This record gives sequence, C-alpha cells and structure tokens, in this order.
Amino acid sequence: MSQPVQASTGGSAPEGHLRQGGRTLLLTLYAALRSLKLYPLENATVQNALDDLNSAAKALLDVEVDIEIRIAGDFLFVNATRLRVELDNYASFSHILALCRAFEIGTLHVRSGMERREWQIFLSLLLSISEKGETDERLVVLQERLDEAKVTHLEVERAQPDGASSHEARHAAKRVYAEGVAVTKDVIAGVRLGRATRLKRVKRAVQQVVDQVLNNEMSMVGLTTVRDYDEYTFTHSINVCIFSVALGKKLGLSKVQLYDLGMTALLHDVGKARVPAEILNKTNQLDEREWMLIQQHPWQGALTLFGMRAYEEIPYHSILVAHEHHMKIDLTGYPKCIRPRTLGMFSRIVSVADAFDAATTRRVYQTVAIEPDQVLREMWGNPKRGHEQVVVKALINLIGVYPVGTCVILDTFEVAVVTGPNPDSQQLNRPLASIAVDADGGALPLPGTPINLAEKDESGAYRRSIVKVTNPARFGLTVGDYFV
Ligand SMILES: [Fe+2]
Ligand SMILES: [Fe+2]
Repeated sequence: MSQPVQASTGGSAPEGHLRQGGRTLLLTLYAALRSLKLYPLENATVQNALDDLNSAAKALLDVEVDIEIRIAGDFLFVNATRLRVELDNYASFSHILALCRAFEIGTLHVRSGMERREWQIFLSLLLSISEKGETDERLVVLQERLDEAKVTHLEVERAQPDGASSHEARHAAKRVYAEGVAVTKDVIAGVRLGRATRLKRVKRAVQQVVDQVLNNEMSMVGLTTVRDYDEYTFTHSINVCIFSVALGKKLGLSKVQLYDLGMTALLHDVGKARVPAEILNKTNQLDEREWMLIQQHPWQGALTLFGMRAYEEIPYHSILVAHEHHMKIDLTGYPKCIRPRTLGMFSRIVSVADAFDAATTRRVYQTVAIEPDQVLREMWGNPKRGHEQVVVKALINLIGVYPVGTCVILDTFEVAVVTGPNPDSQQLNRPLASIAVDADGGALPLPGTPINLAEKDESGAYRRSIVKVTNPARFGLTVGDYFV
C-alpha cells in the first residue's frame, strides 16, 4: 500500500528547486490518480488532489516554463534532474513508472499554460484506457483522445528504444512503419471524403520516423524493402519519407529540418487522392486522358495542402514539393513551367527518394520490379532522369550499390540476401549479407549465415564476390526474413 501524500515534501533537505518541485509534482500526480481511481470525479478528495496537482505544476512552470518528465530505465528525470527514490515516495514513483511503461510513454511534456481541466482529462484517460485493458497501441489511443479533448499543454511521447536489444529496436522500427502507413491511409481517405485531416497525428508519426532514422537507421531503411503490393500508395509514401529523412541526415540537415522534410515527403503524393482509384490501379496501358489525370497530381497536391493550412501548420515546403517533385532539375518533367526556376533542395531530395522507391517496387502495371542496383546506376549515370547528383550520391552511400534486401548470386554458387552496406565506405560494392542458400541449393535456416563480402582469404583474394543480382522468388526466399 502507498503512503498518504502531501502536496509538499517539506523544504528542509538541501535539494535543488527542480528536484523538490519535481518530486512534489509526481507525488501529487500519483495522489490525484489514486483518488480518481477510488472516488467519483465530484468527490472532494478528487477535487482537492487535482487542486494540489495543478498548483504543484504551476509552481514549477513559473520557474521552468516547460516541464519534461522523462523515463530512462528505472529512473525518472524532471528536465535534466534525476529524482531520487526514497522510501516515502517509492510506491508513487514505481506506480507512475509502471503506468508509463504500460503506455510506452517515454516523455511527458507539460507546457506553460497547463490547465487544471487538462490534468483532469489526462488522468481520466490514463485510467479509463488502462481499465478497458486495451493493449494495442494504447499510446496512440491516448494521444488521439487528448487531441479530441483539446488538451494542448500536455504531450506524451513514446519511449525510445535506445540501449535496447536489436530485437526491440527492430520491433520499434516496425511499429513506427505501421503507424506511418496508417496515418497515410487516414490522410488519403480524409482528402477523398473531404474530411479534415488530423495533422497532429501525421506530425507525430513523422517525428517518430525521424527519431528512428536518427537512432536506428538500418532497421528503418531495411523496412522499405518489405513492400506490400496491395498497399502501394501508402507504403510508397512512408518509404519516400524514410529515404528522404535518411538522405537529409546524410546531407547534414538539422533535426527540425528533418521533421519538415519528413512531413513534406510523406505528403508528396497527396494529390493522388484526387485521381480516381481505377486509374491509379490500372493494370494495362493508360490512355492519353488517364495519363493527363495522373499528371495533375502535383498541382492537385499543392492545392490540397494549401487548403489544409487553414487547419494547422503545414510546412511551406510541403506545398512546393508536392508541386515540384516530378519536374526534374532540367524542368523536362511535369507540370510544365512557363518560366525558368530552380527546384528547392527538399524537392531534389524527395524526387530522388520517390524515383528510387517507385522504380524498385513491383506495381500493378509492372510485373517485375527493376533491380535496385540497376535503378541506382541509371539514376547516377543518366542525366535525362533529371536527378540532383549530390543527392543520388548520398543515396548510394546510404544503401550501398546493393541495397538491403537485394538477393545476389555469389561466385561460390551460394545465394545471399544483402543485410547492410559495408561499414567501410570504400567497399560499397561489397556489402554485408546473409547466405540463404548453400552451394548445393539447400536452404539454410533463418537468419542464414552472416558474411562480409569484403572478407579476404589468406592469399589476399576475396572469399566471395557478387556475380549477379537475382529475383528472390526464384529461390522461394522472402528477403524481409533476413533482416527484420
Ligand atoms: Fe508523385
Ligand atoms: Fe511518389
């Protein structure tokens, strides 16, 4: 059982203001949660507890402007200060830690202006969602309900998998990917139905993609090869978002710029929501009228995004990129320009990401995807493709000449799946791989035998070299099994 809680912990200890204020905040938070769990909202105990919580937060916000409560392992931090767990606060701290873990909350931001009403909504939601036993995506449900209830001074952020095992990191990457697909679906459906887009959710999904690319780049980039044939429009958008952010990172953009770039990339094809689905999914040749409709998607996208500006912040770049992403740097693409113009940097990045993903995905009218190495060579070598070469170079650096997921035949007659670029940037044509099929044609158990193609034998010759790229389906392989 827990100890009774007072709004103040007494100021005799020589502690910093933050440590004491932070502790008071957490104790009052726990007290309010507990009383709300036991009594109805109108009850005086609940009301007093909410008052205490609100004043504890106010006291801290007066000095700190913003409060960030962060969970790292078994520790609680308030802004940069770690709170010491003592006997009298042990129960409340561990309860809050457990609750945050159940919701996968990593950080709780409380901003200046936080109202008592918002605390009440937040705590009630925490309790009702956990009582209902909803286990899937509790955090997303919580975030959505907070948005609906117009709680604007409090934000919950997902825990980062830093320091976690690679399994957890991959799991986190998959979850972020799935959320990206879900928000894209939501945006496209919203535009089709003329419904307001929940941009906050889109922003959050993009921020997570950026965070994942910054912490866990290979897992995230690896996921782009797990393409779903039926969901092309949605997986394409999130893939372009991941590639663009990873390219932006290579080109030295800041985190804030990467957020903008990610949002921009995710929305680059939003104009396709205005093109009839039968045309987008058509399996045979498009006639002239249909092709014309497809070519409208850049300016339709720009108009759509312009319309969304009224609801909430859409970066200006998004409008520009939606309009420019098929123009090519020599302006031979579409829509046609009347006056000469220079494409923005974001447009150049998104175009490269877009072209690469589109060309390497098997689509309705494309029975076989072109092999990634061929696509890269073409983008690099053929000026008619109209790509910014600096960005293409960054793409080659990012994924290697043989991107993750490429299935290759080796001079040893083994078949391998590429699992990552060589850490040595001089050896981009000799990636890391996993042998999937041995020289006799026997399939090896997952995840295969890891190899580094730059490895040499005693005589100084490479142990294995790539002979050619092949279609994994020919060997019954699902490339995603080897690195996700
Ligand atoms: Fe497009
Ligand atoms: Fe696209």
